[in-house]
Amino acid sequence: MKVGILTGGGDCPGLNAVIRSAVKTAEERYHWDMIGFLNGYKGLIENKTRPLTGDNVGGLLLRGGTILGTSNRDNPYKYIETIGGKKITHDVSDRVVTAYKSNDLDALIIVGGDGTLSTALQLYKEKGINIIGVPKTIDNDLSATDYTFGFDTAVGIVTDAVDRIQTTAESHDRAMVVEVMGRDTGWIALYSGLASGAHIILIPEIPYTIEKVCQKIYERKGKGKHFSIILVAEGAKPEGGNVTIKRMVDDPTMGVRYGGIANVVADQIEAATGIETRTVVLGHVQRGGKPSAFDRILCTRLGVEAVHMVHRKEFGKMACLRTPDIKAVPLEEAAKNRKVSPADQVIIAARSTGISFGD
Ligand code: F6P
Repeated sequence: MKVGILTGGGDCPGLNAVIRSAVKTAEERYHWDMIGFLNGYKGLIENKTRPLTGDNVGGLLLRGGTILGTSNRDNPYKYIETIGGKKITHDVSDRVVTAYKSNDLDALIIVGGDGTLSTALQLYKEKGINIIGVPKTIDNDLSATDYTFGFDTAVGIVTDAVDRIQTTAESHDRAMVVEVMGRDTGWIALYSGLASGAHIILIPEIPYTIEKVCQKIYERKGKGKHFSIILVAEGAKPEGGNVTIKRMVDDPTMGVRYGGIANVVADQIEAATGIETRTVVLGHVQRGGKPSAFDRILCTRLGVEAVHMVHRKEFGKMACLRTPDIKAVPLEEAAKNRKVSPADQVIIAARSTGISFGD
């Protein structure tokens, strides 16, 4: 047997750990060959591969990024090419089938978030490719799995950063607005806010008003606490308002680029309260570096299970965490987006400890 693997979408810590455990399981347990496609779906469309063996995946458990490269463009159904000097968007999914067949593959493991896995589902259904999915994204916004890998690492990075920001905020009696990733969901802001003891958390699922944000800052001041930490997800928006956009992207498959909400909120706080307010945008720091111990274990288990699923011919499914087990669920379920519910127990716990969501 021969199995392909690719990593798609934005990267996150743990992708290499999945590749490593899948290759080791395929080689040691089943004596199968494995190849990797380079740069996500682009490598599959252009048939760019590299061999993967137990030897060349050694040391990958703790290495961030992905040795295969990745891309959050290059959907084979909406592929952008310049033909005859003109940029066109067209369906090249047949090239995927050609690459799959010409490499004599029996299955393809696709590691990705909701966009990558939605395309994987389409390729499975429409092109009959034997696909197994593995859920990744620091955003933790995929349904069907308790946690996506990369999320725990990102929460750890943000928590560590806020711990440091808190001490300088306290020294200077400042409000500090920290912007974290999370286009459509506030999981990172919520979990790291709870872990770091942030005073205000603004997330896309709970629209805020600046009056409520300032009310919390004044409330703290009244108790002699002259500094405040405001953790804001990049996709947070005010009541009746819109998200803050950095710029449009010249690619219809990618949408807009978010960013800048921290500055908007900070300016408003300073104008309304007179309190000196600074911003920190954590950005891609949240996606870099080595995975946490939790993510290393999760990635190892997901990679192993993906290969066992190939053996059991459980195609069109995704390996996922249903604590304490790793299970296989249909890709249809997996490709759905999961948002924070305002009634979530974690939100209730945060409110109980005095955290404001600006609502
Ligand atoms: O990985 C998901 C995500 O972290 C989003 O929260 C964020 O908006 C996006 O990636 C940014 O990715 P990039 O800068 O790679 O386009």
